[in-house]
This record gives sequence, C-alpha cells and structure tokens, in this order.
Amino acid sequence: MRRIVIIGAGQAGLQLAESLRKGGHDGELYLIGDERWPPYQRPPLSKKYLAEDFADARLFFRPLEHYTRLNVDLRLATRATAIERAAQRVALANGESLGYDGLALTTGTRVRPLPVPGAAHPAVHYLRGLDDAQALKQRLAGARRVVVIGGGFIGLEVAATARHADCEVHVVEALDRLMARVMPPVVSDFFATLHRAHGTQLHLGAQVAAIEPAADGSVEVRLGDGSGLPADLVVAGIGVLPNQELAVAAGLACDNGIVVDEYARTSDPLIVAAGDCTVHRNLRYELPHRLESVQNAVDQAKVAAASLLGQAQPYADLPWFWSDQYEVKLQIAGLSAGHDSHVLRGEPSAAGFSVYYFRQGRLIAVDSLNRPAEHMLARRLLSGGTHVLPAQAADPAFDLKALLVAT
Ligand code: APR
Repeated sequence: MRRIVIIGAGQAGLQLAESLRKGGHDGELYLIGDERWPPYQRPPLSKKYLAEDFADARLFFRPLEHYTRLNVDLRLATRATAIERAAQRVALANGESLGYDGLALTTGTRVRPLPVPGAAHPAVHYLRGLDDAQALKQRLAGARRVVVIGGGFIGLEVAATARHADCEVHVVEALDRLMARVMPPVVSDFFATLHRAHGTQLHLGAQVAAIEPAADGSVEVRLGDGSGLPADLVVAGIGVLPNQELAVAAGLACDNGIVVDEYARTSDPLIVAAGDCTVHRNLRYELPHRLESVQNAVDQAKVAAASLLGQAQPYADLPWFWSDQYEVKLQIAGLSAGHDSHVLRGEPSAAGFSVYYFRQGRLIAVDSLNRPAEHMLARRLLSGGTHVLPAQAADPAFDLKALLVAT
C-alpha cells in the first residue's frame, strides 16, 4: 500500500501509526488531528493533571521528533471534512485533499452537551480534551463552590479533585445510584459512602432543570424539585457521543458508532476504524459493543493496522478499565453486562475487595477495589477462560492463582 491516512490523532491513531510501521508499511503515512496537541494521554486530565502542578508536555506520548523519525506526517490543528470514497480522497478544512490507498478512522468521542437552558454559561465546563482541562483547571483555582452534573467516572474523579482543592462539592446524578452504567449497586454504594465521607453532597435521582446566571459571574443550578445550588464552577460529565459524522456522510455503516467487524474493518474494504468511535465485534462476545477505554484504543488499533497490512487477525482481547477516586483505585477486568450472579471476595472497605460476576456459571468479569494484584490475576483468569466456581471466588482463603496452573 502506498499511502495510508489516519484521521484522529489520539491514542488509537498513534498506535495505528506505530503498528503500521512496525508491521512493515514503508509507504507514506499521514496522522491528521483537529486538536493542536500531539497525541496525549487523556486519563490524567481528570486526575493528576487537574490536581497538581503538571506540565502539558508530560501528557504527550512521544516528543515531536519521534514522528519525524517514524516518517509520519503529523498534521495538527487540521480537520478532515469529508471522505470521498469513490475517489479515495480525504478533504481537509484547509482546502487540501489527500488521496489514500488505505484509510483509518480513529475519531474518538466528544462530550454530550448538557441539555438544559442556560448551559452555555461560561461557568459550565466539560472535560474531554487538554484544552478543556486547561480551562477547567483555571476556573477551579478560583472556585469555592463546585457542582458536578453526572455521577459517572468523569464527574466523580473531578469531584474528588475539587474536594482536594477544598471546594464545597455537590454531585447531581439523574439515576438513583453512582456509575450505574457499568457498576452494580454494591460498588455504587461503596463509592457513595466514600464521597460522602470526604464531604461531598450527593443528589441522586435528581434532575437539572436550568443553569441560572447570578450577578457576580457565578450561577445557580436549578434542580427539578425547585431547589437551587449556587456554584462558581459547574462541571458536566454526562457521557460522550461517538464522532461518526464523517463516516455517516461517507455512507459507512454506523449505529451509535462506526460499525466494524472483528478485523476492525468498516463496510468499505479500504477503511478500518478503531477506538472509542467504533461499535465492534470481539470474538469473546456474542454482541457488538462500543467501549470507551485505553485498552480498546490500543488493542483494536493493532488489529486495524494488521488488517491494512493484509495480515488480518481477529480482535479477541480482554477489555479492562480503571478509575481513581480519592484513595481508591477501581480496576475492571472483562464486561459484567449480562451477569446473572455475583459474589464478593472480601468485605467492602477501603482496604480492598473484589466483585466476581458470573453468567450461567462462567466467570465473565471482576471489579477490584484497591487490589491491583488481584486485578492482574483476574485478567489472566478471564483471558484464559479459567473455570472459577462462585464459592471459590467468595472464599478469601481459596488460592485462585492455583487454578491458573491447574488449567
Ligand atoms: N443530569 C445528571 N446526570 C446525568 C444526566 C443529567 N442530565 N445525564 C446523564 N447523567 C449521568 C448518567 O446517569 C451517568 O451516571 O451522567 C453519568 C455519565 O457517566 P458516564 O457514562 O460514565 O460518562 P462520563 O463520566 O462523562 O465519562 C465519559 O470518558 O474517560 C471516559 O471512562 C470515561 O468512558 C467514560 C467517558
């Protein structure tokens, strides 16, 4: 293949570029990103970057010379505006048009905007990219009262950071428990207790009706029951939307994400896609799904690169995730959706415990809290399809590691 163009210079885009070079692509390689930054790590943005004196450059995966060495034409602050499939060309906002022999879409996601009146007020912030994090950090430095809307990963990590900064913090969550999208009640309850113990006020099952401006540049967050929460800073973390518009306009199959098969191929044989923007197949699972994770960005990008190189290998990696809130590290191995039973290993406490999820007697996922070694073991147990009985998982004295040797 002579020229490969990658649209989206995030973690998946960078991995694709590196895997293509490693796999032997010696033709032209373009990495196009609409942000002004070279590929950077997003996870620290809601954690260390926000909480500490943290130089931007520490977030960058590679120094700029790396791209020159790799002979990657990195185009920053450059937006792709259309994919012309018949002509095999990508149109850029600067008027340029790039022909391609192979194309990769790693366009990621964007934040879901807060759908209430007054949400355009400058006190309302979001957190997705480095620009967002810089603006949020600046506003946080002068804030005393913070209202976080959304009790998911982003909202809760930001809430913990704001409490560290000694702000008064309220979290408004529409559902009746925290992190309900991916966590069972036992874990939601554990985190609710943790956040309350650190002085955050949780408003569960609460609706935001409007953001009302106040005279001094602050706002009042009006809730559905008529009550108001005054805030110098509002952070909305109410989920993300896949960036699929380019793909939709080009007539590629999309369904809450760019649809790809287990080889990361879209409905056009010359175009692959990887990362948060894809609805994909993984041989481990019956149904296609979309994941927002570092693991998927990296592992699926490798699969996509192999497909472009004509060395197709199906995607079958185990998903894993993490979140840091206060002194608790939550690590997730596998996907617990569809489980029909679960058992606890250890008692819920900050000292650490885990939740083992089963479906029809088979272990499908493990959430570990402050148990990093157990998380790594869980990844091995799940990756290898090791048979674990619920009673074995629930017995802290039972050596689960021994099962690895036995299978
Ligand atoms: N008001 C209050 N809460 C809301 C509203 C609303 N109008 N709409 C949605 N929510 C809640 C959801 O119920 C959910 O608990 O916001 C939360 C959003 O949580 P996530 O879906 O986990 O999304 P978010 O926290 O924004 O993170 C987005 O970025 O870094 C990644 O891992 C992170 O994949 C996640 C993504």
